[in-house]
Amino acid sequence: MRMTESQLAQYRRDGYLIFPSLFSAAEIGVLRAETARLSAIEAETVIRERTGGVRSIFRVHEADGATRSAAFRALVRTPRVLGPTRQALGTEDVYIYHTKINTKPAIEGTVWMWHQDYGSWQRDGCARPDMGTFAVMMNDSTEMNGALYVVPGSHKRGRIEPYYDENTSYKFWAVAKRDMIEVLRSSPPPVPIVGPAGTCVVFHCNLLHASGHNLSAEDRWHLYISFNACANAPKFTAQSRPDWVVSRNTAPLPIEADDAILNSGTEPELIRAPSPI
Ligand code: SIN
Ligand code: MN
Repeated sequence: MRMTESQLAQYRRDGYLIFPSLFSAAEIGVLRAETARLSAIEAETVIRERTGGVRSIFRVHEADGATRSAAFRALVRTPRVLGPTRQALGTEDVYIYHTKINTKPAIEGTVWMWHQDYGSWQRDGCARPDMGTFAVMMNDSTEMNGALYVVPGSHKRGRIEPYYDENTSYKFWAVAKRDMIEVLRSSPPPVPIVGPAGTCVVFHCNLLHASGHNLSAEDRWHLYISFNACANAPKFTAQSRPDWVVSRNTAPLPIEADDAILNSGTEPELIRAPSPI
């Protein structure tokens, strides 16, 4: 799949592009069954909220490791993901920087503070902002369940020097309050990425984004597939962050079959049962 010229122009102008209902209910059923299975694993790639629920499951796209998944490995290689991502990054040679499922559990799932992904990734040693993220909503995404918000056009501001935020269970580099107030007062209103399960969004690594608390009764399951241009891979040192957040596998990712999720050998979720209390 390729973005049209006008879609690509929109991506370049706004820093993001939404693809409504890109994955079918059957495909989402497979991915949800996998997310439920992976949520029960205890490993360093599974990060928990302070209150106990799962916050993030990293490294679901490789063939090895505790959180490997044939279905997610198939998903990241589909033309629907890789076609637009290659166009967004402006090169055919892209690799996965990391994958994570942000499960944002019902009631306890907390905020992701305003940030630019390149705030962290530049610190990892990636010289240029030739990076982006393709996100897949695995349930209906609403403002009440903690939708992702983006500030249209904010990628054009370039990288804003971040501070290290330690207030959530996943510490990371966020944009300071003073800078963020200035951005919000001088930008178009933030846009929530809402839509039915299967909706996707691709966004630039300097786009300002955030999400709030999940106030709803159901978990909010989003997959974030972050990409880098192969030519922009960092040099690895003893101080580099672990492989599950800064992948050492920098080989170009090949496009594979578009129907591979359904053929990954995973039984789909049968009914959308409410998650256990
Ligand atoms: C992220 O920006 O990496 C995560 C945002 C979210 O899960 O809402
Ligand atoms: Mn982010």
